[in-house]
Amino acid sequence: ADRRDLVGRRIVVTAGGTREPLDPVRFLGNRSSGKQGVAIADAARARGAEVVLIAANLEVADPAGCDIRRVSTALELQAAVTAAAAGVDAVVMAAAVADYRPASVSESKIKKDASDSGLTLELVRNPDILAELGRAPHDGTILVGFAAETEPDDDARLALGRAKRAAKGADLLVLNRVGWTEGFANDENAVTIIGRDDTVVTEVHGAKLSVADAILDVVGSLLTE
Ligand code: C5P
Repeated sequence: ADRRDLVGRRIVVTAGGTREPLDPVRFLGNRSSGKQGVAIADAARARGAEVVLIAANLEVADPAGCDIRRVSTALELQAAVTAAAAGVDAVVMAAAVADYRPASVSESKIKKDASDSGLTLELVRNPDILAELGRAPHDGTILVGFAAETEPDDDARLALGRAKRAAKGADLLVLNRVGWTEGFANDENAVTIIGRDDTVVTEVHGAKLSVADAILDVVGSLLTE
């Protein structure tokens, strides 16, 4: 899009995937590269917005012209989002945030022992950052959530997306199908944008930058409503 329709708008975007440490050398992570979130930050900047990008372990280059705040864990991402989100026009939660983290982080490298046959990890829940934003008063800030689902059936996946939008109190939910080979790290994406009242606002398939512009089109129209 060749438009400057977001001049004067402030947008917070989270991108990438959190890493939850187990010990000084290991973590629990996920396969989010940060491409889609970075594309959203890039597109928003190109359209004139002031962008804070909360970057969790990106595997892609930083976008130009954004205020970048680096985080690694879900708790760090929560602190950064909380600090940045007050009073902004939109918060786009594209990052893959770990639902659980190890209950304790070992100060030294966890060792295997000649006699053991396995290891059980104890995990505790991370806060649901988006749901917390959705529950708190947020004065017109448009909240955009993402749902990456492996459910192959389109209708069943759409039902999961609708339920997730409502549960998190998001204004929009961007649903995509992921699997061993689709979604993560690709340059293309195929998404369904679910709006308030469970409507399918639009379906987009294409380069992550075109998907980013389509998401921002919907955000922009909600902001001018
Ligand atoms: O519940 P699920 O992880 O599928 O939800 C995905 C959406 O919720 C994404 O927008 C993600 O950034 C956000 N999320 C979050 N805090 C979590 C887990 C997910 O804000 N602990």
